Amino acid sequence: MNKARECIGVVGIGYVGLVTATCLAELGNTVVCMDIDVEKIALLKKGGVPIYEPGLAELIGKNNGRMTFTTALEDVLRQCEIVFIAVDTPPTSTGDADLSRVFAVVSALPGLSSSHHVLVMKSTLPVGTGMKISVELARQEMNNIDYVSNPEFLREGSAIGDFLNPDRIIIGSREAAASHKVASLYRQISAPVLETGIPTAEMIKYASNAFLATKISFINEIANVCEEIGADVTEVARGMGYDKRIGSHFLNAGIGFGGSCFPKDVAALKQIAGNSGYHFQLLTAVIEVNELQKRRVVNKLKKHLGSLTDKTITLLGLAFKPNTNDLREASSIVLASRLLGDGAYVKAYDPVAIPDAARAVRGVLLCDDTLSAVEDSDAVVLVTEWEEFARLPLAEMKKRMRQHLIIDGRNFLDPAEVKSAGFTYEGIGRS
Ligand SMILES: NC(=O)c1ccc[n+]([C@@H]2O[C@H](COP(=O)([O-])OP(=O)(O)OC[C@H]3O[C@@H](n4cnc5c(N)ncnc54)[C@H](O)[C@@H]3O)[C@@H](O)[C@H]2O)c1
Repeated sequence: MNKARECIGVVGIGYVGLVTATCLAELGNTVVCMDIDVEKIALLKKGGVPIYEPGLAELIGKNNGRMTFTTALEDVLRQCEIVFIAVDTPPTSTGDADLSRVFAVVSALPGLSSSHHVLVMKSTLPVGTGMKISVELARQEMNNIDYVSNPEFLREGSAIGDFLNPDRIIIGSREAAASHKVASLYRQISAPVLETGIPTAEMIKYASNAFLATKISFINEIANVCEEIGADVTEVARGMGYDKRIGSHFLNAGIGFGGSCFPKDVAALKQIAGNSGYHFQLLTAVIEVNELQKRRVVNKLKKHLGSLTDKTITLLGLAFKPNTNDLREASSIVLASRLLGDGAYVKAYDPVAIPDAARAVRGVLLCDDTLSAVEDSDAVVLVTEWEEFARLPLAEMKKRMRQHLIIDGRNFLDPAEVKSAGFTYEGIGRS
């Protein structure tokens, strides 16, 4: 198999940028990694890895001869024709995406290079933004820069596999040559490639995330009905998932979706629609159901414990999903602040995210392991389905806890096993 041999720049070395850079190096390219975060670049230069992502440290180690790290955009432009942008686009208070980091990079380009570049946008941008950037570059007579939208679909926790074995590759551009050049970077990857226009590429990303979020809110509402009528949502989801038209993915009822993508992208799509004069009713409901779902856990705790004032509640798992240290928009953060607001003491343990939680979560006692987290606790809420929690030391937990209640926010535990260990068990939508 022919290995690609490009020099590629990646600007913004976060969850997406670092995985993209490493996988592009794995495909045989030389990659110049640039970030404005001086500490992050210093750590990477020393061989450290700033995020927790399974297999990433090993793959960086394997490809370190092909990866360099810098804080200067000039270094990227001087060496690389193809420049990926993977800076963050966090939500603003209105739900719109904050594009300041993207424009900080784009507006720096004119003064820095006059040679030809293909700018490849990995960041998730509101539909229409890429065209605006493309038109603005043309207006500034930056005809040396071609713009390509190449949205990323990787999932934290399985990011390397997702990048190297994607379900599809989406490439949006006004320039056929630029589009083909980006497509050729992926030629060693076996996946359908859809070359299309820029707004369509941007919309595919938002529509995909919004659809998956809708699936989650849908099954959560089914779970809530199951609780009323005595059905079991895990069996319902299994029965639905056998239908190929529906599929079994994203039908796990729980305490709602979080993370750096779904909440932000669903809110942004709702705003994009609203700004264009269309009221996207379905997404309004998807967001509301997701918020209420977190509140239902608090109600479950109150149903068993009464008032939560002075009760101690333990959260098992803080990251928004297993196999990542990412806490952005994690359900644990919302839940912790609701419990604290109700006068409870909150303790928590996460196998990986504790150092990050020390910065992100206030008022929660962070613990080193499950047993110290459940000490003198009145209830446990399983928030993140880390593999380690599949084998909870139930007998020892029972001795250490004050009351014996487990709310399984991810329907991850075996109810019979938990009950036979002497606990009251409640899942989400499980009879
Ligand atoms: N995290 C995911 O799972 C995921 C998946 C698909 C798409 N995305 C999208 O990819 C984009 C990046 O997300 P992320 O999670 O990797 O973000 P992140 O916050 O982990 O990383 C962004 C990086 O960009 C850097 N940065 C900011 N401004 C910069 C600038 N002017 N120059 C250079 N670097 C700069 C930051 O220091 C940071 O290291 C977002 O638009 C996100 O929506 C994320």
